[in-house]
Amino acid sequence: KHITIMGVPMDLGQRYKGVDLGPQAIRYAGVKEGLEKLGCAVTDLGNIEIGRAEQLPDDEANARNLKSISKASQSIAEHTDEIVKSNRFPLIFGGDHSIAIGTIAGISKHYRNLGVIWFDAHADMNIPETSPSGNVHGMPLAASLGHGHASLTGVYGYIPKLKAEHVVLIGQRDLDEGEKDFIRNLGIKIYTMAEIDRFGMESVMTESINYLKERTDGIHLSFDLDALDPQEAPGVGTPVYGGIHFRESRLAMEMLHDADAVVSAEVVEVNPILDSRNQTAEKAVRLIETLFGKKLL
Ligand code: ARG
Ligand code: MN
Ligand code: MN
Ligand code: MN
Repeated sequence: KHITIMGVPMDLGQRYKGVDLGPQAIRYAGVKEGLEKLGCAVTDLGNIEIGRAEQLPDDEANARNLKSISKASQSIAEHTDEIVKSNRFPLIFGGDHSIAIGTIAGISKHYRNLGVIWFDAHADMNIPETSPSGNVHGMPLAASLGHGHASLTGVYGYIPKLKAEHVVLIGQRDLDEGEKDFIRNLGIKIYTMAEIDRFGMESVMTESINYLKERTDGIHLSFDLDALDPQEAPGVGTPVYGGIHFRESRLAMEMLHDADAVVSAEVVEVNPILDSRNQTAEKAVRLIETLFGKKLL
């Protein structure tokens, strides 16, 4: 496998300092070495440039740093597009989850029907009108589906990037009212923590993989580390208790590897300032290795 790593030190989508250090934390945890041990050819582009927050008041739209994020998304899309064009697997490290607006914009134009599997405590399906926080990291999935502010939905010149029936959400336990309506109205496939607890991660993943393989021509994995339980992954800005155990998430990555359908991936929301002993980045790296075929025996 030929992999290109790109770091996106984005912190404009939420309020905590330190999530911009996520890419370095993941590198320190040994991701390149781990993947090379598995026989992958790995190129690391380093971090791309993210502009500064605009100094002007911009929360009229209830989307903080909207213009800066929109501009950065365009650049993220261009860089991601280049990686796909070069026939390499884009492995992207955030940064907060708002980076997905740009990554998906750059990837989706290469597929007739891109699928997305979204591991997260949240749905990230707010629009400025429904967002309780005004934080854009709570909006990228809605934006990719074509909903929200035009500065976000219109990134890279086409709308929408994804169809609702090509998305699967896994691990949710903190949904806002507007998101719940949205998920029901669009009929989005979702396995909240309740379904994971009732049916187990194995059947959740079997169903998710079958569902996406039937209707898409490639799967983008968007992995927010707050999907994991905060006892195991404390280095995130918006922790929610009652999450996925590391073991369950490793099983999920094993099954995705065996399904051989993931074409791009991003790991987001790792904040080493809020972490202890870099354990959140370490677990992220173990999961990435598993996604690329590391087995226990
Ligand atoms: N739903 C909340 C909001 O919109 C939290 C979003 C958290 N998103 C994330 N990528 N961690 O503000
Ligand atoms: Mn998220
Ligand atoms: Mn989240
Ligand atoms: Mn379809």
